[in-house]
Amino acid sequence: MKNKESFGSKFGIIAAAAGSAIGLGNIYRFPCEAGANGGGAFFIVYLAIVLLMGLPLMVTEFVIGRRSGKNPVGAFKSLAPGHKGWARLGYLGVICSFLILAFYCTVAGWTIDAVWKAITNYYHGKDLATVQFGFDSLKEETWQPIICEAVFVFLTAFIIIKGVTKGIEKYSKILMPILLGILIILGIKALTLPGAAEGVKFFLKPDFSKINGTVVVNALGQAFFSLSIGMGILITYGSYIAKNDNLTSTAFSVCICDTIIAILAGIVIFPAAFSFGITPEAGDSLAFVTLPMLFNQMAGGYFFCLFFFVLLTIAALTSSISLLEAPVLYFTEELGISRKKATTYSAIGVFVLCIVASLSLHSDTCLKIGSFSFFNLLDYITATFLMTIGGLLTVIFLGWKMKKEDFYDEFTNDNTVNMRLRKAMYFIIKYISPLAITVILITQFIK
Ligand code: PHE
Repeated sequence: MKNKESFGSKFGIIAAAAGSAIGLGNIYRFPCEAGANGGGAFFIVYLAIVLLMGLPLMVTEFVIGRRSGKNPVGAFKSLAPGHKGWARLGYLGVICSFLILAFYCTVAGWTIDAVWKAITNYYHGKDLATVQFGFDSLKEETWQPIICEAVFVFLTAFIIIKGVTKGIEKYSKILMPILLGILIILGIKALTLPGAAEGVKFFLKPDFSKINGTVVVNALGQAFFSLSIGMGILITYGSYIAKNDNLTSTAFSVCICDTIIAILAGIVIFPAAFSFGITPEAGDSLAFVTLPMLFNQMAGGYFFCLFFFVLLTIAALTSSISLLEAPVLYFTEELGISRKKATTYSAIGVFVLCIVASLSLHSDTCLKIGSFSFFNLLDYITATFLMTIGGLLTVIFLGWKMKKEDFYDEFTNDNTVNMRLRKAMYFIIKYISPLAITVILITQFIK
């Protein structure tokens, strides 16, 4: 059934999957969502969802991937022969990847702009109003964001065409722990700023009265987005996992790494934002204004700022290559197009959407639907609906279409590990996860 090359070491697959998971979702999107959804209330719901739905779904994708040894479209076809409809779930992932990339590359463009500003020491000595103005004007610009996005899309496509994805993952094994180290130093600095305690309280102290349907659905979307689940990307990764790897502990490690980075981002950003007088609802500015202001206050701020934004760009790249890989794999494996062509066409498609997304952020734009800019719409539709619906259908597939024995064999590595956990995990995947996701989505739809 499986004749693919497997990841060399257990650390290799964890690094690759964590590379996809850790990115702008943790450092940019997580604080935005936590800030807009009540801080502590969001955080507690988020943690519960990662554990109760994120982890089982990640295990599900790994199981489907390793069992079939294929990309998502092929995987659903081969594990449920005769049920053609399921392959469409694979297509959903391909479409979702495109849409996510369009706004992801926009944000990554701002990160590249921040790298440039760090190199030229732009932030040095600037007050809050000036840094804020600089960021707001960037969004109003036409060419500057587009050029930065072009650089990012090009880098992503270049890595994929050259086939050096594994190479970059090798470096990120060293670089991501450095990012973690910098975040810890930043956290210590942020916590010692005057007024930081308020920010800590906002982020970590749950006010249960603030938990409502919107908070829960946003936490669900954020968890799926941050863990890269619900669109089949980890099915592809699963197809590379060695037969004797413990899927549960691998998924658990990835979830832990991803969650630690998100928590640290919150611990850095909220105390600093409160201290500088930036509101938690400030959205994009939480990362792109608060952080430069924090670097400004630190000894060696120039280097911290530069390192940080370079590492963030690399973290974003390891996520964007996993996103672009989805359509490329589909075009090459299912439609027989060469890898180079598939990547070039996909990248051009993404870039065009990305231009529209970034122009839609202009204040005088007509690229709005209701109160949503095209940028926000892409973010909202993908994370809140497409990924959660994709996740729901994936657990339903495993629980109700795949043979239970196949799941047990794959989950326990042919009865060698996790024997006691298998029934509970199957129960969660078959009943609890689908029910919980359905209830959350339905309450939101009704609203
Ligand atoms: N998880 C990535 C991040 O947090 C983004 C991503 C979403 C990657 C979906 C792949 C699939 O930045």
